[in-house]
Amino acid sequence: MKVSEVRSRYLEFFKKRGHVVIPSAPIVPENDPTTLFTSSGMQPLVPYLLGEPHPEGARLVDAQTSFRAGDIEEIGDNRHTTFFEMLGNWSLGDYFKQEQLPWIFEFLTSTEEGLGLDPEKLYVTTFAGDDEVGVAADTESIEIWKRLFSEKGIDATFVEIGTEERGGEVGMQGGRIFSYGSKKNWWSRAGVPAKMAAGEPGGPDSEIFFDFGLPHDTKFGKECHPNCDCGRFVEIGNSVFMQFIKQEDGSFAELPKKNVDFGGGLARIVGATTGNDDIFMIDVFDAARAVLEARSGRKYEDAAVTRSFRIVLDHMHAAAFFIASGIKPSNAEQGYVLRRLIRRAIREADKLGIKEAVLAEVAEGFGRAYADAYPFVLASAELIKEELEKEEAQFRKTLAQGMRELEKMGNTIDAFTLFTTYGFPIELTAEIAKEKGITIDEEAVQKKMEEHQALSRAGAAQKFAGGLADHAEETIRYHTAHHLLLKALQMVLGPDVHQRGSNITSERLRIDFSYGAKMTDEQKREVERIVNEKITEALPVVRTDMPKAEAEKLGAEHEFGAVYPDIVSVYSVGPLESAFSIEFCGGPHVSNTSELGEGGKHFKIIKEEASSAGVRRIKAVLA
Ligand code: ALA
Repeated sequence: MKVSEVRSRYLEFFKKRGHVVIPSAPIVPENDPTTLFTSSGMQPLVPYLLGEPHPEGARLVDAQTSFRAGDIEEIGDNRHTTFFEMLGNWSLGDYFKQEQLPWIFEFLTSTEEGLGLDPEKLYVTTFAGDDEVGVAADTESIEIWKRLFSEKGIDATFVEIGTEERGGEVGMQGGRIFSYGSKKNWWSRAGVPAKMAAGEPGGPDSEIFFDFGLPHDTKFGKECHPNCDCGRFVEIGNSVFMQFIKQEDGSFAELPKKNVDFGGGLARIVGATTGNDDIFMIDVFDAARAVLEARSGRKYEDAAVTRSFRIVLDHMHAAAFFIASGIKPSNAEQGYVLRRLIRRAIREADKLGIKEAVLAEVAEGFGRAYADAYPFVLASAELIKEELEKEEAQFRKTLAQGMRELEKMGNTIDAFTLFTTYGFPIELTAEIAKEKGITIDEEAVQKKMEEHQALSRAGAAQKFAGGLADHAEETIRYHTAHHLLLKALQMVLGPDVHQRGSNITSERLRIDFSYGAKMTDEQKREVERIVNEKITEALPVVRTDMPKAEAEKLGAEHEFGAVYPDIVSVYSVGPLESAFSIEFCGGPHVSNTSELGEGGKHFKIIKEEASSAGVRRIKAVLA
């Protein structure tokens, strides 16, 4: 089947079962300055999973474009992509396991309404329990799976892998249903329960794997099992039973409503329908693959170059959507990730023997491939072409120049200078140096480079904030006001107040925060007074990049549920040493709080109300 057919069959299947089809949220999250990209279907739905009613009701279905920067280095195998579409269906406190598992199984196996996959090729996993979290094994799902397989004439044996990772020792044992511990069968944005921040939702899950029938590769363990990475089994769907929320004291409480969060990689599912384990062989890559074959004179199937083909295909797939979504190559944030993708793709095209500009031509086919579901990519064809051509020409020039400098350096190669002055990639320097018999301490250079990048990103962010249009400047003022407000709330209501959600427009700010009671009028007035006082004090707003541990030591306020890199940026209102407030934040912000009071404006709370259990919501304006 083709991508568009699988997508529309899925949406249709769940629509018939009472779900409302919602559009894909943008790849750059709205009102969430802490993460660069939308990385799963549930991310834009977090407030609703926590209990806020969704305007479209309690049953939702979509296909969400997602990007996982952490997977960049993994690209090159048969089943990973940085950019992908995730099929998702949600129950927001409506149905649960007894409906979800039969539905998803029917969708995958039914020939009329679904995909007609052979149930013999499906294997499933369930949660083995976790004493530390205090959540028992999910025996209910095991019973449901047994019944569903037996209805297809399959006697499904259960094999307990257990909470330890014993899969490679235990092997298949003729099993069909397997249980694993928290490392494999618990899902939250942060990962295992211990990594979750207070206020974050998560829960046990049940995953479905497709058996592509490849022979087991013992490089990955003595015995094969569904979670083995040898490539025989590929995960095609995950039903998360999102019913818990992490508490401040590290324990887990039940959410007010039990939710289902299903996510399935569309490309992988399409691969299963064609029986091809290589997701780069699905139809949306056809045109781009053909361009690369024609330009390089090499065949994709030629094992010596398949990896390079896949990296270029993956990266241009992402780049086409990024540029169509308004991202441009730069040295900061999303633009920096785009630049990395483009540069890596050029290096891999180089390995294919393509020495002239090729990326725009490769990316071109994606607009047509997604014309039905994402017409904005095709509509941005000119822009995509322009940006890629510009960036590729510039980087190829850099490469040529770096190469000349490197030759001049003889046997004393300075990889850091080559990078900072000429933008010449460090790993490339290392490879060339190797030909000369010289070893470069890549780690030391990398470290120096990271420090350098943190500084340049901070600079770029400042420029970004300064150059924005009127409309966005208002939004930035409200973003800074938001920081002041959170701190003021903690001063008036107590240190247990933490942010649970936020939404900032150019007209107002909104904050959801943990607090159990309605605020009194006195409390509201006091909060307003503090915020206005800080505006009058004209405090500088300062960005500092530092190691995460250092920021934690300073007591910087976290965004709930966010996962942070090793180097983070924090914003302090007032100088870092004597700050009024410090938050983990990517900005942008005003440079001085006095800007919030420009034109005689004052901070004012216009509404204070309940948002969900234990969470209050404030809307406020500068007027
Ligand atoms: N949210 C779950 C995932 O991303 C479904 O795997």
